[in-house]
Amino acid sequence: MEIINKYFHELDSISVLKEPVASFWECVHEGWPEKCYSEKLVAGLIELFKQCQTQFGNPIHKILDLGAGAGNPSIGLAKAGYEIVAVDKDPDMATYFNTNANIESVKIPFVFRDWTALLIPNHGNEITPSSFDIVICRGNSFIYAGTWETLDFIKPAVRATLALCMKNIYAALRPGGFFYIDISRRIEYSGIPVHCENIGFRQLHDEVIHIYWFVRYEPEKCKRIVDAFRVFHDRYTHKLKKISSHTFVSYHLPHNELISLCIEAGFECINEYVRVAGEDHYDIFLFRKPNSPNKE
Ligand SMILES: C[S@@+](CC[C@H](N)C(=O)[O-])C[C@H]1O[C@@H](n2cnc3c(N)ncnc32)[C@H](O)[C@@H]1O
Repeated sequence: MEIINKYFHELDSISVLKEPVASFWECVHEGWPEKCYSEKLVAGLIELFKQCQTQFGNPIHKILDLGAGAGNPSIGLAKAGYEIVAVDKDPDMATYFNTNANIESVKIPFVFRDWTALLIPNHGNEITPSSFDIVICRGNSFIYAGTWETLDFIKPAVRATLALCMKNIYAALRPGGFFYIDISRRIEYSGIPVHCENIGFRQLHDEVIHIYWFVRYEPEKCKRIVDAFRVFHDRYTHKLKKISSHTFVSYHLPHNELISLCIEAGFECINEYVRVAGEDHYDIFLFRKPNSPNKE
């Protein structure tokens, strides 16, 4: 991480610009800017879907992408022939998503909605209950339910929001349907005061952008705080041009609490720590709605 310290030594000549969170999530995945999704992750997910079909006998075709963001991975999955419905509540993300879908020539229904109201009928743009083969919540998105655009929150209120969203996810799935969720790695919150993650370099026109973030926790408030940075260099002279920073605050949801939330909603946990090629940043859990659900 010496390279990161180096940037901060140069900071007296360069200012850090605070920018909206959406602009960060558009560029973070591997493959950007050539592709709006990670091809490796899309291939890894397709492999997982095949394994699920072999193990449980249920084909996966209809997918709900929860927190679809700028289109990773759902635009890639749509190109591979899956039926996708995307849902997100951030207007900037909606713009990125629709632009990227046009570039890739795919038509994906985008439902502009908060997950707390996932199944509420709205102007014919419906998410039908019990209709999806799998819900995907990729990019550590779930922990932002109730906190996406805030820097502070009240713990029990957010815990209740998470439980409501989980209930809605369960209701959207057909019996036997799967819930794929990735979440902060345990190493992030197991005793390390500040966790630094070096996401790597992306090249855009005449700039090279170094992306990384620092994660810290306030356990008594159940808070996870991410300070994410993009450091822009001139591609040819390597000169530092600007640094932009983005702060994300979310509920700190340890793995055992995620599992409890899912079980409370009616899910069975079928695999903890699933390995999916192309997912290098988070731990993945796979849950399933029982074939004969007790809860509906
Ligand atoms: C971390 S980004 C991940 C985006 C994308 N899935 C990816 O992997 O790049 C989280 C996304 O979840 C969305 N989001 C967060 N809370 C939400 C909520 N309560 N309802 C709908 N969307 C939400 C945000 O707008 C954002 O697009």
